Amino acid sequence: MPAKKAVKKAAKKTAKKTAKKMTKQAVTVAPTALIEIPKVDYQGIRTLAFDIGGSGLKCSLLDEKGNMLTPRVRVATPKPCPPKVLLEKFTELTAQLPRYDRISVGFPGVIRHGCTLTGVNLGGDVWRNYDLRAALHKLTGKPVVVINDADMQGLGAIKGKGVEMVITLGTGIGSALFEDGRLAPHLELGHAPFRDGQTFEEQLGNQAFEDVGIERWNKRLKKAIAFWHTLTNYDTLYLGGGNTEHIRFKLPANIEIVSNMYGIKGGIWVWKDSNLADGIKK
Ligand code: BGC
Repeated sequence: MPAKKAVKKAAKKTAKKTAKKMTKQAVTVAPTALIEIPKVDYQGIRTLAFDIGGSGLKCSLLDEKGNMLTPRVRVATPKPCPPKVLLEKFTELTAQLPRYDRISVGFPGVIRHGCTLTGVNLGGDVWRNYDLRAALHKLTGKPVVVINDADMQGLGAIKGKGVEMVITLGTGIGSALFEDGRLAPHLELGHAPFRDGQTFEEQLGNQAFEDVGIERWNKRLKKAIAFWHTLTNYDTLYLGGGNTEHIRFKLPANIEIVSNMYGIKGGIWVWKDSNLADGIKK
């Protein structure tokens, strides 16, 4: 059977099997969508970028300039998503991709030396002090860097000039700060107090958006932007994440909406920053 046909047949079979399992389980684990991946001839270093989001887990391969060598493969984030489940999903997703040499991970929580300290939207406490870098290294045998997801998206999105701030508006609220292209120590604004006794995430995260509706959410966002400007005096603010599509007010010239693809593409920059690449598992 020609290779293409065989891939299609295998994909169909797996999808059917997963669908059957899903109806039995009635859980929130969505089947991994299988897509055809074109052959990759690239001879340079291939980086696997793994973007762990509150609603989707996404992977793609990057060349040394950060261009995507394959389409992005995605699966809905299981709820909850403890380490074991995440590793299983990682294996499923990467099984669809060609070989790679190293791994960059953007994780939705606080990271210290490759260990996750928090993971509020993935199941909380199960992520306290989990050595994700060591686990992925053990699983794949590849060098691994793990950083916060907003930091990774920011590394892809910024221009490297002045003070640049990145806020992601998705399931959670992510934040990152840069000066002349250098990443500051991770800024975890999402869980800092904002107003009415609530945090930024409680006021602006996806749950809040669903609870209070688009109008109030926009009002809150305007207030939050003023706060962030007072706090950091950013020259440029980049807004990422799925909920940017709900922004209904005119943004000033120094605020840009950036693509979520940077959550993947930022994966190349972690290897160019000696601070981040330090202590990488080899
Ligand atoms: C996490 C952050 C993360 C953000 C976006 C928050 O709940 O605490 O670390 O960057 O969600 O995923």
